[in-house]
Amino acid sequence: MTKSVKIRVSTLNDNTLITSVLRASYPELMRPAYDAKLLEKVLPRITVAQPGLLQSDSYYVAEDAGGAIVGCGGWTRERPGTSEIKAEVGHIRHFGVHPDWIRCGVGKAIYSRCELDARDAGLTQFECYSSLNGEKFYSALGFRRLGQIDVTIFDGVAFPSVHMVADL
Ligand SMILES: CC(C)(COP(=O)(O)OP(=O)(O)OC[C@H]1O[C@@H](n2cnc3c(N)ncnc32)[C@H](O)[C@@H]1OP(=O)(O)O)[C@@H](O)C(=O)NCCC(=O)NCCS
Repeated sequence: MTKSVKIRVSTLNDNTLITSVLRASYPELMRPAYDAKLLEKVLPRITVAQPGLLQSDSYYVAEDAGGAIVGCGGWTRERPGTSEIKAEVGHIRHFGVHPDWIRCGVGKAIYSRCELDARDAGLTQFECYSSLNGEKFYSALGFRRLGQIDVTIFDGVAFPSVHMVADL
């Protein structure tokens, strides 16, 4: 069922509420796809809002009719974890939807805004390191799988992910 949300660019003031959404979303929605011990290690790190993204002008929040944040996500020109920039290629970053709002079109609405703004900025392709549980979502948005990739979260802790790409 699609529910109506408003998508807007995030600010630093959204930090606490975005972290709340990520803390509600990731443990519950990633649990079926990952080893419990691995999640215990990485969740404290990956469920914290990233100030750099929040101020990037290409990170967004979805708000319900009352103005509560129910989802977040965005894109950067830099490949995550590096300073590499390739002309015309953007990278999907830190998507999360509150479990009470999944399968309501919130993630898709945030992605549509990403697509629109990235095209306006001259990008022609998005890359994504999808969580294992997120692959079907990105496939539904038109991404294709390049292969499995281990994303380093910190000091030798690898997070199995799926490297995906979509034309804009
Ligand atoms: C992945 C995530 C962002 C999707 O958000 P969402 O708001 O539920 O997605 P949408 O409702 O916009 O889904 C759009 C389409 O994607 C597909 N899809 C989404 N989630 C899916 C799932 N769990 N299984 C199969 N298909 C799925 C469906 O085709 C869906 O359309 P439909 O509901 O009409 O069938 C959300 O599940 C989430 O926050 N997961 C935990 C965090 C995470 O893994 N983030 C990705 C980090 S890379």
